[in-house]
Amino acid sequence: MPARSFPPLDLRSAIVVRIALAQLQVTSNKQQNIEGAVRAIAEAAKAGARLVTLPECFNCPYGTKYFGTYAEPIPGESTAALSRAAKENGVYVVGGSIPERAADKLYNTCTVFNPDGDLIATHRKIHLFDIDIPGKITFKESETLSPGDAPTMFKTDFGHVGVGICYDMRFPELAQLYAEQGCSLLLYPGAFNMTTGPAHWELLQRGRALDNQLFVATASPARNASADYQAWGHSSCVDPWGTVIATTDEQPGLVYADLDMSKVSEVRHNIPIREQKRHDLYRLVVP
Ligand SMILES: *[C@@H]1O[C@H](CO)[C@@H](O)[C@H](O)[C@H]1NC(C)=O
Ligand SMILES: *[C@@H]1O[C@H](CO)[C@@H](O)[C@H](O)[C@H]1NC(C)=O
Repeated sequence: MPARSFPPLDLRSAIVVRIALAQLQVTSNKQQNIEGAVRAIAEAAKAGARLVTLPECFNCPYGTKYFGTYAEPIPGESTAALSRAAKENGVYVVGGSIPERAADKLYNTCTVFNPDGDLIATHRKIHLFDIDIPGKITFKESETLSPGDAPTMFKTDFGHVGVGICYDMRFPELAQLYAEQGCSLLLYPGAFNMTTGPAHWELLQRGRALDNQLFVATASPARNASADYQAWGHSSCVDPWGTVIATTDEQPGLVYADLDMSKVSEVRHNIPIREQKRHDLYRLVVP
């Protein structure tokens, strides 16, 4: 899955695109989770959304002990359902993530379907969530998961989109790479928890949006008081000016954001940091 380079987008024409962030209640019943996702996609499409993003681990409770049990190959039952839902509703579906089984390995993987139901991108979480904040949160995804090895972009009829999963959002170079390759929207399905969520979730989205002068949106699972992992929720969208244009609390629901794509060129024109970079002093190096 090598990174592909897209021709620059013509940003002169203003188009407004509605996207939906599905903050789903993830249960321990995989089938129920898939049905919930399919229902949310249909509802969002009826409300005029052209792209629907599901949360990280939408078919499986978040936790290393669950990944192996819920994992499936791609294609598999979860991604087949997403493909059908994309086609039936004529929308782009960014399938949050599922635990993917490939050969003898597990990945945390996002699949993207176009409105014809074709799989157009697959992102395996690049940066695994291995952290230790004493007394607060210790989590080691790498106990069970393998990392992906490529950035992932896809093309829509309203612009190019870069994909990261959760912890990937903490790495500004990945976002910068997507921006340099022509993306005007970054999507990060993610499940921050009650320690990192309040502190960093919105700040990271606004940071990535401002640094790169593009839209950034996230989709989190809703919080489940009886789960081991308490998700922060707050699925949001930030515009290229750094303004939070849509957000929510921890409850399940659909969050809509209307993206005026002309904002990307407007902000880039007004504050031309892209042309003012001192490439004589520093540069993003892509290996
Ligand atoms: C909440 O989490 C528990 C424990 O993982 C799970 O069994 C249950 O299905 C979840 N309930 C809802 C409504 O999400
Ligand atoms: C965050 O997640 C970890 C890993 O599941 C958990 O052990 C910890 O209790 C959580 N912290 C909070 C404050 O929710």
